[in-house]
This record gives sequence, C-alpha cells and structure tokens, in this order.
Amino acid sequence: MATNGAANGAANGSSPGIGGDAYPIVDHTFDVVVVGAGGAGLRATVGCSQAGLRTACISKVFPTRSHTVAAQGGISASLGNMGEDNWQWHMYDTVKGSDWLGDQDAIEYLVRNAPAAVYELEHWGVPFSRTEEGKIYQRPFGGMTTHFGKGTAQRTCAAADRTGHAILHTLYGQAVRAQTNFFIEYFAIDLIMDEEGRCRGVICIDMATGEIHRFRAAMTILATGGYGRAYFSATSAHTCTGDGNAMVLRAGLPLEDMEFVQFHPTGIYGSGCLITEGSRGEGGYLTNSEGERFMERYAPSAKDLASRDVVSRSMTMEIRAGRGVGKDKDHIHLHLDHLDPKILHERLPGISESAKIFAGVDVTKEPIPVIPTVHYNMGGIQTNFHGEVVTLSGSNPDHIVPGLMAIGEAACVSVHGANRLGSNSLIDLVVFGRAAGLRCAEIVEKNGRLPELPKNSAEMSLGRLDKARNAKGGTPTAMLRDKMQRTMQNNCAVFRTGEVLEEGRGLIHKVHDAASDVKITDRSLVWNTDLLETLEFDNLIGQAVVTMESAANRKESRGAHAREDFPDRNDKEWMKHTLAWLGDTGGVTIDYRPVHTYTMSNEIQYIEPKARVY
Ligand code: FUM
Repeated sequence: MATNGAANGAANGSSPGIGGDAYPIVDHTFDVVVVGAGGAGLRATVGCSQAGLRTACISKVFPTRSHTVAAQGGISASLGNMGEDNWQWHMYDTVKGSDWLGDQDAIEYLVRNAPAAVYELEHWGVPFSRTEEGKIYQRPFGGMTTHFGKGTAQRTCAAADRTGHAILHTLYGQAVRAQTNFFIEYFAIDLIMDEEGRCRGVICIDMATGEIHRFRAAMTILATGGYGRAYFSATSAHTCTGDGNAMVLRAGLPLEDMEFVQFHPTGIYGSGCLITEGSRGEGGYLTNSEGERFMERYAPSAKDLASRDVVSRSMTMEIRAGRGVGKDKDHIHLHLDHLDPKILHERLPGISESAKIFAGVDVTKEPIPVIPTVHYNMGGIQTNFHGEVVTLSGSNPDHIVPGLMAIGEAACVSVHGANRLGSNSLIDLVVFGRAAGLRCAEIVEKNGRLPELPKNSAEMSLGRLDKARNAKGGTPTAMLRDKMQRTMQNNCAVFRTGEVLEEGRGLIHKVHDAASDVKITDRSLVWNTDLLETLEFDNLIGQAVVTMESAANRKESRGAHAREDFPDRNDKEWMKHTLAWLGDTGGVTIDYRPVHTYTMSNEIQYIEPKARVY
C-alpha cells in the first residue's frame, strides 16, 4: 500500500534556527528519494520500487495534481498506426526541431525507446483513443514528418485532449501498486550535499504539520518540473516554480541552456490557458485581422503545423504589422468552427470546454482568441541520458555528480535543444523516468548501508527557512513576484534584442536584490502559504536571473531564442550549450560545453546541420 508520512521516520534530531527556534527533525533513510510526482517522477518511482529499492516519492501537491495532468494533445512515438513511420524520421524531426542544439546520442535514445514506453503505458491502463481497428489513435503535430521532412506524420498518441491526465492517473495507480512510500504535500527546501560534492538526500517541510523531515538516500532524483511561473503569462500551473533547478543552483552546480524558453502559439488570450496544438493537428488554423491564413506565407509546406517557435514568431510578426485581431489588435484567431462537431466532441472535448469557460467562445461557431504563451523550459539540470546529473569539471564536460539525478522538464538531457516539438515532452517524461529507474537498479545497492550525514546536514536548509520566516522587510512577496514576472515577460520574450536584454538584466538583478526587503506576515510553519510562496519566489528569481543572463550572452538566433540583432543561427561560434552558475549575491558565471555531435549506436549517422525551413 502507498503510505503518506513518516513510515520509517523518527524524531531523532534537531537543529537550531537563526531566529532562535529549534527545529525537531524527523529522519528517514531510503535507497532512492524522488522529488516530484509528475509523469517523470512517478515513472522513475515505479521503476525503482519494482526493482526492490526502498523508494520514497515526495510531492508538494497530491500526485495526480502534478502539472503533467494538464498535458493535452499527446505523446509522440513512431508506432505507425495511421501510416508509415519509423524512429529515424522521429529522430530527424527532433534534431531539426532542436535547431541542432539537441545531443544526438540522447535523441536517439529517446526516439528508439518511445514505442516501447507507449505500449507499456497502454498495458498499464492508459485509456488511449482508438482507431476503427482498435489501435492507439495518433494525430499530426507540429514539426512531425515522414521521409525526413517530406510528408506529414501522424505520430502523436492521444487520449482525446486529456492525454497527460490519463497518463498521470495511470502512473499513480502503478506507483501505489508497487508499494511506493509517498510523502504528499511535503515541500523540498534544499539538497543535502557533502564536502566531496555528493548528494546525500533532501530536507523537506511537511506543509500540513510544519515538521521538518530529513531524507537520507543513496540516490536523489529531481523530477520537479519547469519554472514557467517566472513569467507573467504561462500555461504552467502556479506550482511550476522549478524548485529542483533552484536547489541545484544553490548546490553550486550550473543550469544548462536556460535562454531557451518555449512560447506555445495558442494560449487563450487573457488567461493563458492552453489550447492544444492537437487542435491544429485535427485541422484547425490561424487567421489575422484580414481573415488571412498567414502561416501559408511563413511556412509554405507545414503551414499551421510548423514547429512551435516558428508559429509563435509568425503570430508575433502579424500582430506587430498591425494585423492582430480584437479591439487592441493584439492577438490572433484560431478556427475550429469548420470542423465536424462530432470530431470536436470526440477528440477535443477538453479545449472546447476551456474555450467556453475562459474565452466565452463556442468553438463550433466562433474562433478562439489566442496568443503565444510561455509553455516549456528546454533548459534545466544537465544530465546524461541515464538521468545522472553531470557537470563541467576541468576539461571534462560530463563529470557525473554522485547521488543525484534529474528527469523530465527539470532536466536538460539535452533532447530538445533550442526548441521542443509538441508531444515530445510526455515521451521524454516516461522514457527518461524509466531510464533513471533502470540506472538506479544497476548502481544503487538494495537496503545498502549509507554513510553518516555531514554534521551540518540540515543547517543550510533550515537557515534558508529561518531567513524567510524572519523576513521583516517592507515588500510583500507578491509584489516582488509580479515585478519578476513582468520583467521576464517584457524583456525575455519571443523576440529579443541586445538592448532589451540589457535593460532586462538591470531590472531582474534589481528584483533579486530587492528580495532582501521581503516581508512575511506570518511566522507559522503550518500551512503558511506566505512562507511557501516566499520560498518558491526565492527559487524562481535565481532561475530568472540565469535565464536573462544566458539570453543576453548568446549572440545568435536558434530555436526559441530569436535575437533581432543577430537574426541568423551561427553554428561556427554558437553550436554549444550554455552553462550558468549563480553566486550567493546574484552574480552569474557562464561557460559552455560542446553539443554531442555523435549518435548512440552506429545504426544512424549524425544528422548534419542545415537551414531549418518548414
Ligand atoms: O499542445 C499541446 O497539446 C501540448 C503538448 C506539448 O507541449 O507537448
């Protein structure tokens, strides 16, 4: 049975806080601790539990409320149920989608393991939509082609437009079945790192009781998702604050490729709520104020199903040219009104409802007002394709950080490079969640004896907690968060220039510095949302700073990073991954590592860079 709480814990320690409070600590020991219970976290949890490892899964929300639940359109895998397909074409599309910043060994691992990962989900009970013959239904998605760019692939496996919901609930069921120990509504404060740079576990607060829990483990897996909430308008849940990324920064490790922030073309104007790309896969199209299907001009072949970065830029250019719709001419129309209502009912019921609720639109009769909206972070914690965290060490760009893994949106493997293709996210979650489980089964000893923790293992984390609790400044967290979000939205958006980024650097560092004046009104540890939001803001602002700095540093255009002052991709100087470290006072150090220009097997050759047209 799944358990929630201190199954093997005991209040056996305490640490003095800087405010004078002593924090009793409940200690736990596991082989593996997974932080995060979205698709990646749960898949890794299932794998580790099935391998007989003592596994804990910690989540700040109830697992089935993790943000994977909001994924709509589907999960990519070259099953070939709706026409010919193979993993080589999927690989080509992913490399091209990444604008050649993806590591091709990792991309090969992803696409080759994708079909098996989807069949596994099917066998575990995901209620996929079906073809007439009873096979898994697959729809077209942006940038997914056959014959290396020549045809349109139907590669995205869908459960109507609620695919993430179906997958997340199925995985949770499997984790319960595998007897995982769940610690639900626990917020991870910080990693426990030892002097040799090994991760030894994580310190958390049980949000309901205010108790501090110290998890000691041979392996800590961060599956904490993206940091979309650094921006003002995002399809991401309010919980998407990149807590794992921030813990990694505080551990003195870098984040990779943070300048690459994906804008989904179709967030509902005003609310940011997602309208799946699957709606264009089913035949939907975009128009400007002249009623023109403008994507035909920007992407003559793929049109509305071009890669997301291309569609978002085209929409922005139409709006800038004065051809936006609405009273302020500041958004675009998405038409589904020509589609058979039966198709809308069967395949797009969720977005039909969202359009009604959030835009007051009946999709069978009127277009949906949409605007490019922050959706996904290609950047994150640098890992290899087994999920192990790696970092630059001397001349070794792939030095393994012992005891630490990262998967899902928190990780940068890097399979998405400068731009992720739609439906490659859900498959990333389960393929690399599974890979992490397999790696743990290989390298983590079952019930192994763990060395004693460093003496001050809780001090740093509790110092952080204490500092937030005792903040007696004059600025409410909500005000700081608003300034950060508006700065990111205005100065690090779809199009960027040196001047706008330079202004953004000044502004975002100002918000970072202003955080020392944060005001907390309630010192309680029990369900203190003011305190928790302050810890989340502290996580976000560090990531916002490295994102802005990484963007200002990259002087080329590639994928989602579109510089108007450097409009071309520059492979000679910039085909490299950014690594950014954050210092205690907000200073950022940037270095680069080479893109892996090799594949995993000799069954496919490295795909050489070329112009990226759709
Ligand atoms: O449009 C969508 O359904 C989103 C899918 C994705 O980001 O992979």
